[in-house]
Amino acid sequence: MAEETLSIRDNRTGEEVEIPIVDGTIHATELGKLGLMSYDPAFLNTASTRSSITYIDGDAGILRYRGYPIEQLAEQASFLETAWLLFEGELPTAKELEAWQDKVRLHTYVHTNVTRFLDGFRHDAHPMGMLLGATAALSTFYPDAKEIGDEESRRLQRLRLIAKFPTIAAWVFRHSRGLPYVYPRNDLDYIGNFVNMTFEIGGRHEPNPVLQRALEILLILHADHEQNASTNAVRGVGSTHVDPFSAVSAGVAALYGPLHGGANEAVLRMLDEIGDVKNVPAFIEGVKKRERLLMGFGHRVYKNYDPRAKLIKRVADDVFAQTGLDPKLEIALELERIALEDDFFVERKLYPNVDFYSGLIYRAMGYPTDYFTVLFALGRLPGWLAQWEEMLSDPEQKIARPRQIYTGYDERDFVPLEQRG
Ligand code: SDX
Repeated sequence: MAEETLSIRDNRTGEEVEIPIVDGTIHATELGKLGLMSYDPAFLNTASTRSSITYIDGDAGILRYRGYPIEQLAEQASFLETAWLLFEGELPTAKELEAWQDKVRLHTYVHTNVTRFLDGFRHDAHPMGMLLGATAALSTFYPDAKEIGDEESRRLQRLRLIAKFPTIAAWVFRHSRGLPYVYPRNDLDYIGNFVNMTFEIGGRHEPNPVLQRALEILLILHADHEQNASTNAVRGVGSTHVDPFSAVSAGVAALYGPLHGGANEAVLRMLDEIGDVKNVPAFIEGVKKRERLLMGFGHRVYKNYDPRAKLIKRVADDVFAQTGLDPKLEIALELERIALEDDFFVERKLYPNVDFYSGLIYRAMGYPTDYFTVLFALGRLPGWLAQWEEMLSDPEQKIARPRQIYTGYDERDFVPLEQRG
């Protein structure tokens, strides 16, 4: 078949090159034939990798993990089943799932010294700052994690992180509340263990199965999202062949930002600031005057409703039926109603994203606002690790080292201090 190519003529020199079109892209290095580079500062239209993990169609509002629609996974899968699917590319058999659950159960303990790192934080330290520090610190407890060329070692580190992240996340919560750390229990499942380590008081916590399933669905909805900012951070840092604990800590740092995972916290602060439905029109006017962003709205890829936001709204109904309605939901619904009608938002294709409703659910479950992004990280961990593994296994990937357009001074001579005025 005739190769698909792009003919580029450099009108400065009259030089012409034929550049192959592969998978709807041209390889940027082909531009080197004309002495040119591509320029795309925030990767608005640049693919950084091939990936078979997650598919998003931003216009159609489609999200699939390894080909399975997110709606079906949210409805029928467990979080550990979803993590296995992201890692291995296939849903686990019953035997594989049981073995995977047992392995995770045996790795939930964290070296007790990690509690000393957490004890070192102020009582009001931001939970994401604590998660960031503890995750990076974990790399020092597993020197074998540096063996990133060994497939079995990589598999063991993925298992360790999946198993230990909930323990650390729960301990971060306990430190924030000045409560003693609760240790994992082998008689509880993955979500139940996390919830118990978080909320147990005096050796007891009565689990609410509806809320636990709602939390599990939220974690599944957050599990991966192709080349988002935090995944890009994990891939970039991981491309230096550092251990996966350090690479994941880069993902935690990126997710912390209010334009990314920190948006779920920012949404609740925004709703609390608005305070009452009657203040919504004035707030919307402020957004349209560019005085602030409507947090929880907009997306680099989705130019339609984020399919996760739709599913989260349904989870909200189940949760609020258990916990009672958060009065701020009325404000959120009014913001959404206006934004879906108002030209400012319609023209820019700004729809609710995954973060718009999730915070209201987390608050109803009893989590404080500054803890919401920790829950996002708990969900995104398998996605980061699956993408890290794919990056290391991809022969096309090398150390991530972008080029630049230099805009600084031309060469100039050093000026001795006494001559600097
Ligand atoms: C996540 O990438 C992922 O997949 C992320 C994520 C995942 O699962 O990993 O989906 C999770 O991070 C969701 C996004 C959470 N962040 C927020 O809710 C913060 C508010 N949203 C914006 O910051 C923004 O929409 C982004 C960051 C999400 C997307 O930014 P882009 O793609 O760079 O879009 P942009 O800033 O170029 O915006 C296009 C226009 C601009 O107006 P103009 O200058 O063209 O007139 O839309 C405006 C923006 O000013 N705009 C907004 C807005 N988002 C964009 N205006 C008001 N409120 C907003 N929320």
